[in-house]
Amino acid sequence: MQRTLILLKPDAVQRRLVGDIIGRFERKGLRLVGLKLVAATRELAEKHYAVHKGKPFYESLLSFLTSGPTVALVWEGREAVTVGRNLMGVTDGAKAPPGTVRGDYALSVQNNLVHGSDSAENAAIEIALWFKTEELVSFTATDANWIG
Ligand code: RTP
Ligand code: MG
Repeated sequence: MQRTLILLKPDAVQRRLVGDIIGRFERKGLRLVGLKLVAATRELAEKHYAVHKGKPFYESLLSFLTSGPTVALVWEGREAVTVGRNLMGVTDGAKAPPGTVRGDYALSVQNNLVHGSDSAENAAIEIALWFKTEELVSFTATDANWIG
């Protein structure tokens, strides 16, 4: 079993797409183990996107992520990292295929609605950044035998 951190960035909240996007992850079969609304501070945004420090889009990205509330989610399931990235689609909304969150709702490169961990290692780091251990609730889904 794997966990992944998914963020519904401020554009997803402002555009009232939270329910739609969460529904996609639920219907895929992932289990929700963490959920909260966060007004990300600059410090949190800097840590979250530390890998992009120094890139031309870095400052704009931090402004974007701190511009309003973000929904932070932890999903659990088989291949959760890859499954999450596939549900999101590629970074550039204009290039993401239909059927993905970005492909269906995003046109921008920056304002692309969602973040998803890109490896199990980074997922563990990111989950620790956004959640306290006691905020995560693991449970056995009643339909586990059907979903696998
Ligand atoms: P994320 O980390 O948010 O899941 O997105 P990603 O892996 O698909 O893309 P990444 O390369 O990690 O970039 C992180 C976020 O920075 C913004 N971005 N802007 N203006 C630009 O050229 C540019 N490139 C990236 C996007 O919000 C992207 O999701
Ligand atoms: Mg990334």
